[in-house]
Amino acid sequence: MKAVRFHRYGDIDVLGVEDVEPRPLGPRDVLVRVRAAGINPGEAKIRTGALHERFPATFPSGQGSDLAGTVAATGAAVTGWAPGDPVLGWSWERSSHAEYVVVPHDQLVRKPDGIPWTAAGALYVAGSTAWAAVTAVDARAGETVVVSGATGGVGTIAVQLLRLRRAHVVAIASPRHRDWLESQGATLVHYGSGVTERLRRAIEDDGAGTAHAFLDFHGGDYPRIALSLGVPPRRVNTLDYGVAAALGARAQDSAEGTSRAVLTELAELTAAGRIEVPISRTHPLGEVRAAFTHLEHDHPLGKVVLLPPNAVPHSIEKNGA
Ligand SMILES: NC(=O)c1ccc[n+]([C@@H]2O[C@H](COP(=O)([O-])OP(=O)(O)OC[C@H]3O[C@@H](n4cnc5c(N)ncnc54)[C@H](OP(=O)(O)O)[C@@H]3O)[C@@H](O)[C@H]2O)c1
Repeated sequence: MKAVRFHRYGDIDVLGVEDVEPRPLGPRDVLVRVRAAGINPGEAKIRTGALHERFPATFPSGQGSDLAGTVAATGAAVTGWAPGDPVLGWSWERSSHAEYVVVPHDQLVRKPDGIPWTAAGALYVAGSTAWAAVTAVDARAGETVVVSGATGGVGTIAVQLLRLRRAHVVAIASPRHRDWLESQGATLVHYGSGVTERLRRAIEDDGAGTAHAFLDFHGGDYPRIALSLGVPPRRVNTLDYGVAAALGARAQDSAEGTSRAVLTELAELTAAGRIEVPISRTHPLGEVRAAFTHLEHDHPLGKVVLLPPNAVPHSIEKNGA
């Protein structure tokens, strides 16, 4: 099968698509034919070596956590899944940017009919992270919640989960995605010089007049800005773990949002049209470099998704799965 590989840390040009075999199917594993697989900034950080201390790569490295597809084969001890079942789920083996992926049977949920493959394949990392952050600050109806990175993969879902809780959202983003934010009922505040003053004004203009919680999906100064706006530390969630520890803020991330229950809930909300997963672009798997160029340089709204071709790997044909 075709799968993304890189053989050393580096820029986008170290990424390639190679012919490899999926790893062997264990008794509790499921082989999924991938129909769509989202890409994430964390994968770019791993590829450059920026996360070497925390998440080292071993070479050659595969890539990818998000996945949606159909079950192609099941291990001998798997009872809940059968070939042809539509699923979405996650890999913890950096392996979903491929035509086929092997995952433990309990890292999959059934794909509801109403959710497109692209959205299903982009939901896990961004959705679980957004869900964890919204849950961490316990946003409630009528409250004002500030979100940085509001128009990225994570932020777009977090904004909608907050709106489902009937919170008012003040979204820090660039003006290029104003229309989408306004369609969600959020108030846009531009990032850049003077952002704290603009936030103060937007919060004062808001009905409640105070910021109750802050979800930081960008890092930098935002956790400290949150405190300067009067948000209590326990209602600030950031993905910068060091800053969270220093300030007494929360740092709930995709790990806390990872469960079949959460992914099922997010998929059902999407299938019911209660949240959308904005897809900025899809790229064939073979265009993995172009996909990461778009993600890393073009400020896309929402997600970028890889679409593998549907060749059948030799080993699978041979075994008749
Ligand atoms: N630890 C975890 O479990 C975990 C999981 C998922 C993501 N993450 C991290 O969370 C971050 C967001 O992920 P993502 O997938 O949403 O990324 P993304 O899709 O690339 O979105 C990044 C967002 O940041 C915004 N942004 C850029 N400069 C900004 C600034 N100065 N102030 C405020 N916002 C700014 C962008 O807005 P414009 O497009 O308008 O410029 C965009 O909305 C990344 O750092 C990622 O690595 C961590």
